[in-house]
Amino acid sequence: MISIIRLKMFMYVFVPVAVCFIYRWYKERKRVPNKGNKYVYITGCDSGFGNVLAKHLDQLGFCVIASCYTENGEDELKKNASGRLTTIHLDVTDSESVRKAAAFIKSVVGEKGLWAVVNNAGVSVPSGPTDWLTIDDFKSMISVNLYGVIDVTLSVLPLIKMTKGRVVNVASVFGRISPFGGPYCVSKYGVESFNDSLRLNMAPFGVKVACIEPGFFKTNVTDTALVKDNIRNLWDKLPQDIKDDYGKGFLASSLDKLDSRFRQLTDSDLMKVISCMEHAVSAVHPRTRYSPGWDAKLLWLPLSYMPTCITDRLFILTNPRPELPAL
Ligand SMILES: NC(=O)c1ccc[n+]([C@@H]2O[C@H](COP(=O)([O-])OP(=O)(O)OC[C@H]3O[C@@H](n4cnc5c(N)ncnc54)[C@H](OP(=O)(O)O)[C@@H]3O)[C@@H](O)[C@H]2O)c1
Repeated sequence: MISIIRLKMFMYVFVPVAVCFIYRWYKERKRVPNKGNKYVYITGCDSGFGNVLAKHLDQLGFCVIASCYTENGEDELKKNASGRLTTIHLDVTDSESVRKAAAFIKSVVGEKGLWAVVNNAGVSVPSGPTDWLTIDDFKSMISVNLYGVIDVTLSVLPLIKMTKGRVVNVASVFGRISPFGGPYCVSKYGVESFNDSLRLNMAPFGVKVACIEPGFFKTNVTDTALVKDNIRNLWDKLPQDIKDDYGKGFLASSLDKLDSRFRQLTDSDLMKVISCMEHAVSAVHPRTRYSPGWDAKLLWLPLSYMPTCITDRLFILTNPRPELPAL
């Protein structure tokens, strides 16, 4: 008798959950038609996610407008993509460059309008404990990671409204939780907020806005040599009193922790992120948020819902600690 009741309870829970998953899977499979008539503008295509996404969407038949920060980036893409793909130079921190890119895109897409913009360009240095940094360190990263996203979006929004298209913002799971100091999380929290308000504002116009929140993936942003060099440079520039606050061993233990953390968490399968970006651009019913990466799904997002007293304790215990003198 008890086992029949248990079975019934299981069915009451399991069946609706299974039906919801099957319905979601079915709904999310549909893709938009006429990819060959749809223009997608991507920022930061020199390397990493932007570079792989540009080639992937090109292979799927979209008309990709890949913006690069460097000439080398443009040359590499031209060699490895179809004739449909166009490259342009773009520095997202320079409004003149953003304006020029938008004017070029308007001339290319004409009456068809722009189907999607993927705000992908970003940087991860300078990063370090907050009291090691200056306001200029914050401004330099925020101008790429946040103002760049806003400027590029505003520059092409009228073209996207014409197609009832998409804005895809690449934030980070560190736009949901801040386990370390410096401007990176600040900038990505800003992207999340911009994304959410834009999604509400654009809904009446039929424009969909999606946010990508990856965990740790193997790209230049998580290049250990680059991030460690940045920490050493910051340390070298610190006034002696701040060095004394942290103690002699702090730099070495920070670099060791960084090495082991990046080794444990960094995923080299960039396609996990690219398929989320592709879905956001090409699905008839895109999601509002994508969190690719096992660390995003199983570690950082669950932690972001926990009480601050728990997450603070955890981060203080696991982050490198200043060598405070015994009282
Ligand atoms: N990798 C991760 O674990 C991870 C996790 C979460 C979120 N993200 C985000 O994903 C996005 C892509 O990063 P990624 O991991 O693919 O690293 P990446 O390979 O360094 O890609 C970033 C791209 O942005 C470009 N860029 C830098 N400054 C620019 C500027 N002022 N104007 C225009 N383009 C500029 C870079 O050009 P150069 O190569 O020429 O400098 C590069 O092509 C970033 O927004 C990053 O914050 C990455």
